[in-house]
Amino acid sequence: MRERIIAGNWKMNTLPEEGAELAHEVAKAVKDIDNVKIVICPPATHLCHISNAIKGSNVGLGAQNVHWEEKGAFTGEVSTSMLKALGCQWVIIGHSERRQMFGETDEGVNKRLRHIVKSNIRPIVCIGETLEERQAGDTFKVLERQIRIGFEGVEMSGNSGVVIAYEPVWAIGTGLTATPEQAQEAHHFIRELLSEMYGSENAAATVIQYGGSMNEKNADVLMSCEDVDGGLIGGASLKPESFAAIVNASSMI
Ligand code: PGA
Repeated sequence: MRERIIAGNWKMNTLPEEGAELAHEVAKAVKDIDNVKIVICPPATHLCHISNAIKGSNVGLGAQNVHWEEKGAFTGEVSTSMLKALGCQWVIIGHSERRQMFGETDEGVNKRLRHIVKSNIRPIVCIGETLEERQAGDTFKVLERQIRIGFEGVEMSGNSGVVIAYEPVWAIGTGLTATPEQAQEAHHFIRELLSEMYGSENAAATVIQYGGSMNEKNADVLMSCEDVDGGLIGGASLKPESFAAIVNASSMI
C-alpha cells in the first residue's frame, strides 16, 4: 500500500511565535495518527522555531522552496543543506504561485528536482493546469509537459521519495475544488505517464497528492479516489482543527 501524506503549505502567513504555537497545536491534535505522514511547511524564517516546537512529534518539517545550488552568490535563496541543518525533511517546489508570480519555469523545477533527489530531502513537486488551459481541453497536455520537463534526467525508483502534488490552479485558494472524478482522472493520467517513464512498479509506489481547497468537508471523498494519496493543504492548514480533521479523515480511508 502507498504512503499517505498530508502536508500543510502555510504560504506567507503567521509570525514566528504564532507559527510555533500553530505547529504545537497541530502536533497535539494529530499525535495519535500513525498511518499518515504529516508535514507542515511554514515560511523559511520560522523553520528554526518550528523545528523546536515539533521536536519528538509525528509532524515533519518542510520548506516552500529551495535553490538548486548548495552555496554562492544567489541573493535571497536558501540551499538544501541549510534546510536540512534546520531539521527539514521535505520541500515544496514548482508551486503555481511561484510559477505565476515569480517566473518559475518547468526548467527551474527540473534543476531543483535534480539537485534535491541527491540531497536526502523529499521534494513535493507541484503541477497543475490553469482554468484557461482546462477550458481549452489542454489539461493533460499541460501536466505532461510539466512532468516531462520537470523530471528530465531525474532517476526515480520506488523509494526515491519524490511526491507529486496535482494542484489545479483554478482550485487553489478559490474555494472551488476539483470533483473526485476530475481529481481521479488527472491523478490516473499522471500515474500512467510515470509508468511509461519509470515503469509500473515505480509509478505504483509514487505518492500523488491533491491540492486546491481541500478541507475537512471534502477530504474523505477526495482521499477515497484510487490514485489520490494525500493532500497539499493551503488555507485549511492554518487552522489546527481543520488540518487535524483532514489528517484524521485520511487516516480512516
Ligand atoms: P488551498 O492551497 O488549500 O488554500 O487551495 C493549496 C496550495 O496552494 O497548496
